[in-house]
Amino acid sequence: MSSEDVDRLIDKIYDYSLEAREIISQYAHKTPLITSYTLSSLVGRNVYLKLENLQKTGSFKVRGAIYKVYKIIEEARSKGEEVKGVVAASSGNHAQGVAYAAKVFGLKAVIVMPKITSATKVNATRSYGAEVVLHGNIYDEAYEKAMEIAREKNYVFVHPYDDPHVIAGQATIGHEIMDELASPGCVLVPIGGGGLISGISIAVKKRNPDTKVIGVQPKNAPAMYKLLTRSLENYRPKPSIADGVVVKKPGRITSKIVEKLVDDIVLVDEEDISYAINFLLERAKIVAEGAGALPIAALLVGKYAPLKEPVVCVVSGGNIDPTLLSRIIMHELAKDGRLVSLIGEVDDRPGELGKVIKLLAEHMLNIVDIRHDRWDPALLPSKARVEIIVEAKTLDDVVEALEELKKKGLKFRARSGLTK
Ligand SMILES: Cc1ncc(COP(=O)(O)O)c(C=O)c1O
Repeated sequence: MSSEDVDRLIDKIYDYSLEAREIISQYAHKTPLITSYTLSSLVGRNVYLKLENLQKTGSFKVRGAIYKVYKIIEEARSKGEEVKGVVAASSGNHAQGVAYAAKVFGLKAVIVMPKITSATKVNATRSYGAEVVLHGNIYDEAYEKAMEIAREKNYVFVHPYDDPHVIAGQATIGHEIMDELASPGCVLVPIGGGGLISGISIAVKKRNPDTKVIGVQPKNAPAMYKLLTRSLENYRPKPSIADGVVVKKPGRITSKIVEKLVDDIVLVDEEDISYAINFLLERAKIVAEGAGALPIAALLVGKYAPLKEPVVCVVSGGNIDPTLLSRIIMHELAKDGRLVSLIGEVDDRPGELGKVIKLLAEHMLNIVDIRHDRWDPALLPSKARVEIIVEAKTLDDVVEALEELKKKGLKFRARSGLTK
């Protein structure tokens, strides 16, 4: 694609995005754009959050899917044809987006998901009336199956990001931001295949070329970053908490748009993402999935330092598995010294363990779990090893309790984090 071709495509997608607004507003939410006082004070700039985690189906994906399905039907009708159905391959938010979009337009949908997809995601997709086919172990196998179904049933395949209509649907987020804030300093957007940031950058840059658009990717899966820095060769993504953005290859169209319009791409590591998810939950009462927390991660750990305000972070989705969320909460509490494992030895006599427990209570340490081991051959027969996991208000309370235990001849130490 020549540079002029890309410019023409951008103009076309912008025009589509104006129509997409009309269509999407009938079936999906205009999501809230809220300020975060805590985040703003930490970053030193006024920060807004665009809450696509509160979008129908729990992510922005439904926007692109609604507009795409609308255009598929429109195109068929213009030829006097009927659409038989749509098909998609996805283990994530795209599955639910397409299932929902097909439902609102009364179309049949088949969604092919890899066999390992969690029951929660399968059930959510089925709940919108789609037929779910579980096939293959990885996305590529599910994709092949989806193409086969498309050929056999004469259904239309809906791509998750590399499609002008899908991109135009995602651009409606950019319009909503610009309607509320005429000239944001920058907009931070997660990148997977690049459909979301392509759409947002088209709407934002057309309406205010001075607003910076910054992409955020996990270090474990920086496909777009690698492509634009010409280092995609032999690239293999690693798993990430931000599973929604793990792709092998960015889109052909999206990479051209990103190259033209996006000002920078920054990378964050897994600890940053975990920290951001917990920060949003604890301080802003927002449930974000890993991908949705990427922009906040970049700001919180200073991977991107905005020069101009207001700053907008697109919280692109909230579909996080409850077991992963609970692990992240525990991990962050442990990192913060608010969930600590204490380990030590006591004389194996009645009342010895009681002394330890009493002292912990005096320091407001709440016992979550306790293990008492007398049979370890490394122990003297008169001793017992004790491991106590406590919740603390602050790490200082733990340090003080350990000093008091020591004064009483009870040697305990803190192990970092949960050590069960
Ligand atoms: C929650 C979430 N955020 C961001 C993205 C990335 O979107 P794109 O692939 O269009 O870059 C995805 C993709 O599925 C997602 O599910």
